[in-house]
Amino acid sequence: MDQGLYSQDELSLVPELALNLLRGCGNPTGFANLQLGDVVVDFGSGGGIDVILAAHKVGSRGRVIGIDFASQMIERAKQTVAEMGFQDRNIELRVSDMTRTQLPDRFADVVISNCVINLCPDKDAVYQEAFRILGPKGRLAISDIALTEEINPKLREGFQSIWAGCLGGAIPEEEYWQVVQRAGFEGIQIVARHTLTHEELETMACCPGDDFTPSPAIEHVAAVQEKVTSVKFTAVKRFHIDKEHQFPDQTEGKKEGGLRG
Ligand SMILES: C[S@@+](CC[C@H](N)C(=O)[O-])C[C@H]1O[C@@H](n2cnc3c(N)ncnc32)[C@H](O)[C@@H]1O
Repeated sequence: MDQGLYSQDELSLVPELALNLLRGCGNPTGFANLQLGDVVVDFGSGGGIDVILAAHKVGSRGRVIGIDFASQMIERAKQTVAEMGFQDRNIELRVSDMTRTQLPDRFADVVISNCVINLCPDKDAVYQEAFRILGPKGRLAISDIALTEEINPKLREGFQSIWAGCLGGAIPEEEYWQVVQRAGFEGIQIVARHTLTHEELETMACCPGDDFTPSPAIEHVAAVQEKVTSVKFTAVKRFHIDKEHQFPDQTEGKKEGGLRG
């Protein structure tokens, strides 16, 4: 199975700054089937690589919103967008928590995320927020981390205490799919999966970089080896649930603006 990573062509589109901050575990825009004009929201946009690649795909009639709760990351992503000369594109980078984006209901066509949701202790809240902001035919294209075997709770706690460490919040894969379905998504399609190597685990445990997060001890990384998988998947919003929620139709406002907060 293809690992769902970036192609050389895609990487050549992205400035050095964003490549240096790249801490993803996949390439969500590569399998999101983005269309010209789509409105895309990136949960945990980091240095902005997926925002840039999404902007390429949705064109000038589309719109891309990068959400990250770390203001330093948003600042760096803004630099990236400026370096690309993409200021004229409909790109917005907002400091916000992905569980409370303050975006309107039914705002987006696609929610993407790259190696972020595993960090959040309340994954139900993340997927409920994605459900809320997606329109009736909305879809997810997510690259994330899950556990194929339980890891020692003490070790897990250690990883959790590391700021933005990518492993601490990972949950067992079966539980993960339940969260996605409980939020109202269906048709989960696994696009690619990959058991993380020692090197990848090391990088992930101290993301978004050594200058932000101390590295974990080698033996701690070794103890989780073969137990962590990177999973790339798509899913769609279950329409009848949306009807039950009876959200007012906001389709008209969504492309013109209408961002709250
Ligand atoms: C592993 S990095 C991934 C960054 C980017 N998606 C990439 O592929 O390079 C995780 C990012 O998610 C952000 N993040 C973590 N939890 C978040 C939350 N609850 N809401 C918004 N951003 C969050 C961090 O600040 C960090 O920039």
